[in-house]
Amino acid sequence: MHMETPWWRDAVVYEIYVRSFADASGDGVGDLTGIRQRLPYLSELGVDAIWLTPFYRSPMADGGYDVADYRDVDPLFGTLADFDALVSEAHAHGLRVIVDIVPNHSSAEHEWFKAALRGDGRERYIFHDGGELPPNNWQSTFSGPAWSRSPDGKWYLHLFAPEQPDFNWRNPEVHSEFLDVLRFWLDRGVDGFRIDVAMGLYKAEGLPDTPPEDQAFKAESPIWGRPEVHEVYRRWREVLDSYPGERMAIGEVWTDSAEDLALYVRPDELHQSFNFAWLEAPWSATAFRKVVDDTLAAVTSPTWVLSNHDVVRHVTRYGEGLPHSTKGLARGRAALLAMLALPGSAYLYQGEELGLPEVTNLPPEARQDPIFARSLGKLPGRDGCRVPLPWSGAAEPYGFSPDGARPWLPQPVEWTALTVERQAGDPGSTLSFYREALRARRALRGSLSDGVTWLDSPEESLFFTRGSLTCVINCGVAPVPLPPHDRVLIGSAPVDGHLLPPDTAAWLHTS
Ligand code: NOJ
Repeated sequence: MHMETPWWRDAVVYEIYVRSFADASGDGVGDLTGIRQRLPYLSELGVDAIWLTPFYRSPMADGGYDVADYRDVDPLFGTLADFDALVSEAHAHGLRVIVDIVPNHSSAEHEWFKAALRGDGRERYIFHDGGELPPNNWQSTFSGPAWSRSPDGKWYLHLFAPEQPDFNWRNPEVHSEFLDVLRFWLDRGVDGFRIDVAMGLYKAEGLPDTPPEDQAFKAESPIWGRPEVHEVYRRWREVLDSYPGERMAIGEVWTDSAEDLALYVRPDELHQSFNFAWLEAPWSATAFRKVVDDTLAAVTSPTWVLSNHDVVRHVTRYGEGLPHSTKGLARGRAALLAMLALPGSAYLYQGEELGLPEVTNLPPEARQDPIFARSLGKLPGRDGCRVPLPWSGAAEPYGFSPDGARPWLPQPVEWTALTVERQAGDPGSTLSFYREALRARRALRGSLSDGVTWLDSPEESLFFTRGSLTCVINCGVAPVPLPPHDRVLIGSAPVDGHLLPPDTAAWLHTS
């Protein structure tokens, strides 16, 4: 029997950072109604699904990744009724909905943690008697020690901010709670979950010190990628599979190798995990080729991603740190075309379709990411990629909020030229390019091979084919001759049919 490809296998998923997408209520913070109003924009863009970052009840110590109630919408973002309306309207637009689930830690305002501080149900979190010093040398991902003291002097673990205490996954109650939370949202019609800190839930027994140099997301670590975590995802997979309609899960998994990543997507575990290797690679044909080869050798359902709400926007990364660099934008567009030509699914981050750069000059008093405060201003944090989207008009709030409201982060004046309104009618704009590229990808859907075949190409360029599609990208400094083809389907910049300019990619049709 011919099996249909499940929707997520080659989907283009658009990440909505809810606080910064669209504000309908006028309080300067994005919300669910704002998203509902912009669904036509997303369907016209041509994506298949949206991933919503956390919109649950939260004191917002980490932009909502500190959840106080996993079964309710924060009033800042709307109500459960707004959520239900969003899901049904998204589905009516042909868009699937993925929601974030945050199982590594809760908010310190969660009922369980408040009870734990009263001495009730402490075994749901990781408390330690300790002494004067923290129980071990673990450092928070957000700077500073990973341990804080509760009012009665006991230490509790938080891999992120002190307002985000880590759950104790060795307690069966934590398991049943999250199975129930999954069902709560599945019953409301969500199509999938993005699992926050998916490789962090279990900590090594005895909480041993990490070697000093090993604070990163590493496989051989007492913190990350413990083998027990896979049992959790096997159980979650059973729940997802028990619902109709191809429900799925994608893990936020940072690893050093594609082999480690592959452990999370074994057939009875998660459907996908983020493949951050491309995002971490420099602008280099050799580096890109290695990422593609390593990924395809290890993983059968690959994913690709260039940007998200935690990293410097790729236009700025590729522009060697300069925010408004022509080179960065050209490379960003080229990388998108290469990514969309690869087998698997692609995750886009809101605003990349406008070519938005990182905002590098936010005033210190505007910055809200706990990384900035916890590092005492040494690290800029992630606010620069979270600035609210510019939709229309010539001044802040650029249609993000109703006129008169101030967005929660200031928007740069240069964004007047980058609004959706300005770009929508301009065939040369980045928005028009994204729409065209997504249309071209849809037109090819189902007709391409699962693997890629490399063709010989000049140094610092890559040529690969998937059936009738040849994708070419030039990461070098000189133009390179195009391989044989019938016609150019799309270019990240104008391509004349003979030479591929530097910092450019194109799709060619061959018969
Ligand atoms: C990863 C999320 O993407 C990030 O924004 C958050 O700060 C951490 N996990 C902690 O939840």
